[in-house]
Amino acid sequence: MNIIEFESKDQLGKEAAAIIARTMTAKPDAVLGLATGGTPIETYKELIQLHQANQLSFKQTKTINLDEYAGLNPEHENSYMTYMKRHLFDHIDLPHDQYFLPNGNAAHLEKECLRYDQLIEDVGGIDLQLLGIGQNGHIGFNEPGTPFNSKTHVVQLDENTRQANARYFSSIDEVPTHAITMGIASILSSKKILLLASGKSKAKVIQYLEQAEIHPDFPASALKLHEDVTVLIDREAGSLR
Ligand code: PGA
Repeated sequence: MNIIEFESKDQLGKEAAAIIARTMTAKPDAVLGLATGGTPIETYKELIQLHQANQLSFKQTKTINLDEYAGLNPEHENSYMTYMKRHLFDHIDLPHDQYFLPNGNAAHLEKECLRYDQLIEDVGGIDLQLLGIGQNGHIGFNEPGTPFNSKTHVVQLDENTRQANARYFSSIDEVPTHAITMGIASILSSKKILLLASGKSKAKVIQYLEQAEIHPDFPASALKLHEDVTVLIDREAGSLR
């Protein structure tokens, strides 16, 4: 695991976008695994700028998102589909039938998970997976205790995670209790992994990630089993190292 520290969140976002752009240049039909949350917003802004400057096209790209809330319509203002449209998809030339998120509103969530695993297989696997990290070490919505051999599955969200995400809703009661997430095994099957962490609230988890033994109680420790993981952090997230 290679950890690189940057002065600011903006610089981190620029570097993350540059790594993604290099992957796309080397393989124009690359499959990108994407993440939501506060952390990747600068990265997406930078990708949009590269696209607007005619330096990057997504016409042949496919994207697969990590997770989606259960029980929210994709059109809901807090769905991850809406987030992705707002922060990336609506501003680039990625065709509408080439981005994918789990459907958290599917009638049969278990079937939806199987469909999503099949989809990942059908597109030939993920070339580059972008990840954030939760304060409890979650990746995607894989909360502590998730088996490392898990594929896409339905999860009950940790209280800590619901509280962290309540900032986007009018009250904590509105934050969904469940979600669909790619599993740890799905994440580890990506060819390359890029984890981003910024801000003071991530300092402890980054310190822990470096020292942690590989154990399901700390989901991000599974990344130590992968041979191509780059972790980009800003100075605040690195302040306890
Ligand atoms: P954040 O979320 O980017 O909003 O901090 C990351 C995560 O919980 O995985």
